[in-house]
Amino acid sequence: MSSSVHFKEIDSTNNYLKEHCAQLPHGFIVTADKQTAGRGRFNRKWVSQEGGLYFSVLIKPEQTDFWPNFTQLMGLSLCRAIEKRYPKTYLKWPNDVLADGKKLCGILSEGVLCGGKLEGMIIGTGVNVGQKTMPDVGQPATSLYLLGVQADKQTLLGEIMDYFWQDYPAVQARGFAAICEPYRARFPFIGKEITVKNGEKPLCGTVRDVSSRGTLLLNTADGPEEIYIGDLIV
Ligand code: BTN
Repeated sequence: MSSSVHFKEIDSTNNYLKEHCAQLPHGFIVTADKQTAGRGRFNRKWVSQEGGLYFSVLIKPEQTDFWPNFTQLMGLSLCRAIEKRYPKTYLKWPNDVLADGKKLCGILSEGVLCGGKLEGMIIGTGVNVGQKTMPDVGQPATSLYLLGVQADKQTLLGEIMDYFWQDYPAVQARGFAAICEPYRARFPFIGKEITVKNGEKPLCGTVRDVSSRGTLLLNTADGPEEIYIGDLIV
């Protein structure tokens, strides 16, 4: 069986893996030139016009303890591949990749059920590569093209996945602790005032650190907080 499939156009590469997960092996990748119903985190739309790199990878980890950390590993892998082309690339917890303060990549991870059983995880990733204009998505966004970088999508994907598979066994064994140092080195928000939104009341505070579990440690007016999920407003 082939370990990848490419579509010129699809609704969402995440949807494809959800529909076919039972027949597909660990590590299977779906790519598309364009998505007609690309989805982002917190039920947002991910505008997926031609020029972007859209891919989803299916993973079937041996145990479920460290699932959120595979998404952070993908964020780190994106950063590592892109910083070689554009050094001012960094991570915004939990797994956005920014360049010059603008969003360059986003990741939507979803669990997959097969026959009612949690069988695997889909890590869906969008990278703004060749778009000449960016849609208004409520936050500043950019593309490699707009940053003056010419990148071949296939080569970039290969490099991203090489970084991902390189650290996959360590994350499977030890979780975020395995990538904590390289992640922190690319996370410039320690000591900065930020707001975290996760659907409820926004929380404001100063970033203390990212813990060895991958959670965000925040000092707020009411004391220290450990954040497991959310969106950082910086
Ligand atoms: C976000 O930042 O909100 C996450 C965006 C994730 C977009 C990617 S593109 C490939 C995959 N298919 C989808 O429908 N979404 C993800």
